[in-house]
Amino acid sequence: MPSTSRVSLTRFLIEEQRDKGHINGDLRLLIEVVARACKRISIAVGKGALGGVLGSAGTENVQGETQKKLDVVSNEILLEANEWGGHLAALASEEMDDPHPIPHRYPKGEYLLVFDPLDGSSNIDVNISVGTIFSVLRCPDGVSEPDEKAFLQPGTQQVAAGYAVYGSSTVLVLTLGDGVHTFTLDREQGSFILTGSNLQIPADTGEFAINMSNIRHWEPPMRRYIDELLAGKTGPRGRDFNMRWVASMVADVHRILTRGGIFIYPRDLKDPSKPGKLRLMYEANPMAMIVEQAGGAATTGRERILDIRPDKLHQRVPVFLGSRNEVKQVTAYHREAD
Ligand code: AHG
Ligand code: MN
Ligand code: MN
Ligand code: MN
Repeated sequence: MPSTSRVSLTRFLIEEQRDKGHINGDLRLLIEVVARACKRISIAVGKGALGGVLGSAGTENVQGETQKKLDVVSNEILLEANEWGGHLAALASEEMDDPHPIPHRYPKGEYLLVFDPLDGSSNIDVNISVGTIFSVLRCPDGVSEPDEKAFLQPGTQQVAAGYAVYGSSTVLVLTLGDGVHTFTLDREQGSFILTGSNLQIPADTGEFAINMSNIRHWEPPMRRYIDELLAGKTGPRGRDFNMRWVASMVADVHRILTRGGIFIYPRDLKDPSKPGKLRLMYEANPMAMIVEQAGGAATTGRERILDIRPDKLHQRVPVFLGSRNEVKQVTAYHREAD
């Protein structure tokens, strides 16, 4: 493809701001800064064992997970990249108990950034794709020192959402509320190049993604749905289904964004205090915005994820997302069972 037809992320964002008026200068700067931080994380991830950043950091995060060194490194990269630019009022992360205020020596902006700095970190030591997930909210008017409460907004309030997947190539996926676009990192030039616009998830699919080892903990409607898929052609669905499970949400969602599918992390009865494993603010909400912008659907099995009014920064929700006809089907089974 001749280089003149290549549109960089910078040019795309300038056109979104200047020609379409979709974003302002601060949001444009925010996305550029996050993309630059994802480039740095991609380089750190790509070094593998040579970078001295594999393995455990020996610390535990607020989730009760043992942090990987790259969880901590990626979090630091995003904090350092974002705190001086004047576009943010505060940041929050899977890896930090509380929101991170912008140091008083820097100006504050109107946006809140909440992120999962390294998603799928259990895969980092075995060289399977990982990623970064981010969500952008507006800081509520009149809040000069945003605390957890400032972040507790429903997903419909997101002004942007995206993820980077560090796979065979590094791809940034972004929505500003007007479609989903993908940018592939040109490592020679060091810039993200537009490689996909207005992605659409097929309404139907023959592929599902779930961690089957939890089957004994599932609620009955969950079991009913998967049994139907497993019954194949002779079953009530009348078709065979394929299964994939990468255990990196970014990788599973990227596959679904690219060729369809349904991704499920259900509520399980293993630990009733945890309604599923995935976190609302920096996994479910950003992915739900992206999936809906691509014509898919995203529910908890009972309600639309983007409508949830959060009550905790790190709260967990069940996640059903992807091809809308499958999400509709499994959600109907859960509602029938209630
Ligand atoms: P994180 O690495 O940010 O903690 O997220 C891991 C999540 C998600 O990426 C993935 O879909 C899920 O955990 C996998 O869970 P299991 O290991 O239970 O399959
Ligand atoms: Mn984690
Ligand atoms: Mn994650
Ligand atoms: Mn993570």
